[in-house]
Amino acid sequence: MNPSWLRDAVFYEIYPQSFRDTNGDGIGDFQGIIEKLDYILSLGCNALWINPCYDSPFHDAGYDVRDYRKVAPRYGTNEDLYRLFQEAHARGMHVLLDLVPGHTSEEHPWFRESQRAEKNELSGRYIWTDSWFKGCRNIAYIGGETERDGTYLINFFKCQPALNYGFLHPEESWQTPVDSPDAIATREAMKDVMRFWLTRGCDGFRVDMAASLVKYDDEKKSGTSAVWKNVRQMLDEEFPEAAMVAEWCDPKIALRAGFHMDFYLNNSNGYTALMRDYEGHEDHSYFRREGGGDIRPFLREYEDWLQDTRDIGYISLLTCNHDTPRPRFHMDMEELKLCYAFLFTLPGVPFLYYGDEIGMRYLKLPTKEGGYTRTGTRTPMQWTKGKNLGFSDADPETLYLPVDDADDAPTVEAQEKDPSSLLSTVRALLALRHRTPDLQADAPFASICTDPEKAFVYRRGSLILMINPLCRDQRVEIRGEILYSIGQVAKKEDAIMLSGPSFAIVQPAD
Ligand code: NOJ
Repeated sequence: MNPSWLRDAVFYEIYPQSFRDTNGDGIGDFQGIIEKLDYILSLGCNALWINPCYDSPFHDAGYDVRDYRKVAPRYGTNEDLYRLFQEAHARGMHVLLDLVPGHTSEEHPWFRESQRAEKNELSGRYIWTDSWFKGCRNIAYIGGETERDGTYLINFFKCQPALNYGFLHPEESWQTPVDSPDAIATREAMKDVMRFWLTRGCDGFRVDMAASLVKYDDEKKSGTSAVWKNVRQMLDEEFPEAAMVAEWCDPKIALRAGFHMDFYLNNSNGYTALMRDYEGHEDHSYFRREGGGDIRPFLREYEDWLQDTRDIGYISLLTCNHDTPRPRFHMDMEELKLCYAFLFTLPGVPFLYYGDEIGMRYLKLPTKEGGYTRTGTRTPMQWTKGKNLGFSDADPETLYLPVDDADDAPTVEAQEKDPSSLLSTVRALLALRHRTPDLQADAPFASICTDPEKAFVYRRGSLILMINPLCRDQRVEIRGEILYSIGQVAKKEDAIMLSGPSFAIVQPAD
């Protein structure tokens, strides 16, 4: 059973560094999130995912955790975070933290112990070879930095040693099997981290690199899935209302492994065709007006996944996340309206990245905290005109990242006053979704017309929806009432006319 609150959940992802600074130190904090909960709810987002906010040396923006049970002082105290949970719950909202189960920081006390020459309780918490000059097939490893005679495997950057969940097919004596005491101890330690937060008001986790736990050759992911099935059993028994969303992008596997939701990410063909088909000189992404895009590559993948995972869990589409360029990178405000209209009317549980509701730009910036090209997606939220666009009172030189200094940088303040703004469109769309069960997570989806020369027509429950990203006029033969529209849409006796880029939701007459 999935937690019932997911049926009508819409998530808002917050990169805490950049959301709202209330103490003038140039970086966002928990109090800033608390102050903006009413705003987030007013958008129609009733759940949050907060990127890692734990103690960390921040070589990867917090995905290098030094203490799983203590928040980073720059955001506030643990008590502030507990207060955030309470304030969110008081508004009927839910909060997911980011769980990083595959690796820690090299400064985590577990790793400090594990790298000691003398054998101890944590020697097997990470994956070590048995000699300083031995590496590991296919997986990056680090040598020469530890007391221990061995090299250790990393999961991502150099600062992120891989935790040991065992090997599916051990080949060497130093590779422990998945049911070894060390592998089980790692899993149990991670379950205790989850219990720690869940008993303090957290509602679940976005799980980082969820597919990465068991090492080779876990190609079908049976080893890693077994870990998650075990975790899910714990949740079902102890925290049945807690939710987990995987960073996996393979819902057939992830949802069967016990996740309630799996992200539809960039590395899939379907999402690329839909959102980011701009590798060559031309941009054929589906929502680009002149793009000549085609919805079918997306549908081939999505409908297959949807059918296969029906009644198991949800596929989560997102506007973007902290790892990818913002959609405004290549789409204008009108294109974004159609894009969001589509994302927010699909089944499953959608995610909106902070600032995408006003079309914040992707900025070209030098790397910060291991962000590299991702840094431009992580700039401060743009609230108002004026100093630091309302993000912080600090000296602009001391901000975590610079704000967008363009004269026409979008702000919440300006868009709230404009009924035709992107923000107003997001509000209207999400309000409609919340009052219409046919637009929520569970109602069935079916494509009706997928001809790339025509409007894409699809069904959600009893409703018919149509999207016309092209400049050409389209006629969709249907009799019914228009419940909601974007762009020029007109009802004729037996058809809906869509002029230029437009979108409509229609309640059919019969
Ligand atoms: C995926 C996260 O989204 C990304 O930001 C991070 O750098 C890696 N995992 C490593 O944890």
